[in-house]
Order: sequence, then C-alpha cells, then structure tokens
Amino acid sequence: MNKIENSFLNKNQFGEDFLWGVSTAAFQIEGAHDADGKGSSIWDVFTSQKGKIKNGHHAITACDFYNSYQTDIDLIRELNIPNFRFSISWPRIMPTGVHPVNQAGIEYYNKIIDSLLAAGIEPWVTLYHWDLPHALETKGGWTNRESVSWFSQYVDVCAQYFGDRVKNWMVINEPSVFTGAGYFLGIHAPGKKGITNYLKAMHHVTLATAAGAKILRNKIPDANIGTTFSCTHIEPATQNQKDIEAAKRVDTLLNRTFIEPILGLGYPQADLPVLKKLNNYILEDDLNNLSFDFDFIGLQCYTREVVKAAMLIPYIGAELISAEKRNVISTDMGWEVYPPALYHVLKKFNEYKGIKKIIITENGAAFPDLLTNGKVYDIKRTHYIQDHLEQILKAKKDSLNVEGYFVWSLTDNFEWAEGYNARFGLIHVDFETQQRTIKHSGLWFKDFLS
Ligand code: NOJ
Repeated sequence: MNKIENSFLNKNQFGEDFLWGVSTAAFQIEGAHDADGKGSSIWDVFTSQKGKIKNGHHAITACDFYNSYQTDIDLIRELNIPNFRFSISWPRIMPTGVHPVNQAGIEYYNKIIDSLLAAGIEPWVTLYHWDLPHALETKGGWTNRESVSWFSQYVDVCAQYFGDRVKNWMVINEPSVFTGAGYFLGIHAPGKKGITNYLKAMHHVTLATAAGAKILRNKIPDANIGTTFSCTHIEPATQNQKDIEAAKRVDTLLNRTFIEPILGLGYPQADLPVLKKLNNYILEDDLNNLSFDFDFIGLQCYTREVVKAAMLIPYIGAELISAEKRNVISTDMGWEVYPPALYHVLKKFNEYKGIKKIIITENGAAFPDLLTNGKVYDIKRTHYIQDHLEQILKAKKDSLNVEGYFVWSLTDNFEWAEGYNARFGLIHVDFETQQRTIKHSGLWFKDFLS
C-alpha cells in the first residue's frame, strides 16, 4: 500500500479489539439553531451576547451538520473510522427541557443514527455536551436541585427513542469544565460566577450523572454505559513543599472531584478543603445516589499544567504557569504539547480500583491550518496524534487499562469561547462555503486505519 507518511505506528500493535473513533458535539457542529421546533440552549443565548465569544463568532450555522450530516458521515466512512461520537441537543428534542417532546428533533437524530448504521459506523452518543435548554436556566439551571429530575426525564426520552439502535452511551461530558467555566468563572454559558453556583452545580451534575446512568441501565439492558472526564497531568513548578501542595490541590480540583463520588469514594474534601462547603447542599440520602458502576470511563486529555503556590488566589491557593511563560511549544489554545501527559493520566486513573475500562474519548490539537491548492498540510497535528498514540502503546506495554482512542474532532468546528479560530478537525472547513477538505492528518489516520 502507498502509505502517505512513514511512521512506526501500526494499528495492529494496539490489538484487534482496540476502539478507534472520532468525537464531536451537537452545539459545535449542527447549526440550525432554531430549526424545526428546536428550543434555545444556554449556548444560543450566551453566543448572542456581546463580548462573550472571540471575534463575535456564534454558532447559528456552525458546520451546518444539521443539513450536511450525510456528507460528513460519508467522510467518516472514507476515513475508515469505525466509531462516531456525537451528542444529542437536549433543547432540540425537548424545547423547554421537559415534556412535551419535539418529534422533528427525534426524527433528526433517527436519521443520523440510521445513516451511521447503514454506513457500518457505530454510534456513540453523549447525552449532555453543555447545551442546557435555556428554559431550564431561567429556573436556575444546574444550580437548581430540580435539574436532576429534568435531566432524568430527558435521558428517559433518549433511551426510549434511540435505545433500540444506540448501544454506546456517555452520560455527561467533562463536568469539571462546564461547571468551572460556566458556573464559577462565567466564561462559558450560562456565564454564572461564584463558589456557591459552582458547588451547587457540581453536586447536582454528579447526582444527575448517576441518575441518568441508572435510567439507561434499566431501559437498555445491553447498553455500554460510560461518562467522560477531562483530565490534565499536573506537576509542581518546583520541589518546594508549598508548590507540591498547591499542585495537589489543583490535581484534586481538576482530576478527582467529579470521578471520586461516582466511584463511591465521596468528594475529596480532605485534599481540597473548600469542597467541605458542599455539605450545605448534600441531603441525607445523596451519598448513596452519587455512584454508578460504569462499563467504561472516557478520559479526555490534551496537555499538562505546571503549578505554583499562590496564597492570594481564593479557594485553591495556586496558579498555573502558562505554556507561553514556560516558553514551551503550545497549540492555538495555549496548551503545551506534551504527549507524556497522556501516559501519566492513564497511569493515575489505572490506580482507581472501580474503573472497568478506560477509553480516550478525546485527544487532539488546534493549529493554524492553511488551505493551499486544495490541501492542508497539518504536519503538527499529524505528529501530535502520532506522539499521543505512542504514549498509549507505552501504557499498553505496561499493561495499563486503555481500550480505545477517539480523535477530537472530525471537522473544524465552533470551539466555545474561542469561536472558529481554534481548528481541531481532521477535516478542514471553509466556514464561508462549508467546503470540506481532508487534512494531511485525516489522510494519515485513514491510511493508519485501513
Ligand atoms: C473538550 C470538550 O469536550 C470539547 O467540546 C472541546 O471542543 C475540546 N475539549 C477542545 O477544547
């Protein structure tokens, strides 16, 4: 075969059952923000407000996946990618967040699922990838304890309509990121700030994760049920005790706070004292309702962070030293390119006894791609992916649990507060014309998977 690039990597090294895929999310690709009865999401509202998104970008059309899904599914097939992860937009199928159901929204996801299956591509569905129905946000969104029952209604509907054909489910995507950015820092939708909003959202999202998973288990007995966590390898800036302790607090916040209650270990309050404030919102029976025995855990790792003590920073007493300040190679997101982070994260999560199976449900990089003469030579992204796959191989050689790898993302798309400038795709999108061009990284992945 005519391989497009020499690389020592070979798919067979990962084993026959290793899962290969590509990940996306509804709000980042679909567009069609008010089509066919869809309700507004918190991201529709947030992106319509001035100054929230870089360059005033919004996602009214995004990648127009709503209309051009067949083109993109054909491209997934052309790239030999056997598994496709996408999310369901809650307000598209339940415009007010609760009953009644919008039948047109159900039909839309039915078409996607059927088209994937017809192409021999396995659907992997994320139930919540950050686009809460705005109608629920007016009632407090995730800060309202009612959110657990709103979410349960929604999961029940998804299981009922799609559970006959979708067998792979992820309940919630990166809870630490959307609660931290959306309810503490206010830089993501819904733009709320403060420790109280954050802790309430944290607790309700964790309860909702377990509640949603239980509904899937009851309604779809043969489902493969997971949920995904963002994870970052954390290192102290120096070996001073203060920096070591600061790094431990950051690690607790970013990597442990959401998964540990799910694994039945409770919130890691001893290592991050501010979490003791959660006790104000934990009701009597809650601790029994926070855990679930997931079939797999999705880990999403992009980088490492280096931490120093900073006693003036509230709650955490720590500061991240940016890649720029450290003068290391970074992506368009400002994230250091540091492939061993993936190995370290795998090693760390392998130490939890309660995790049955680990799948890397996201990994990828944003670089400034140039379309010249119909080609995008994104060698940095190609190497980024290859170097991270090397780390997975290293983990496998050390007998660590890791059973799949999904690239973020299929096409360039709407990167939240960064708008369209951070391009993560294996496929380039010209957002003026919606023209798709498979990048060099996509062609490499295609060869690799063939
Ligand atoms: C995490 C999120 O799940 C996804 O929505 C985002 O685009 C990527 N990482 C890159 O930032």
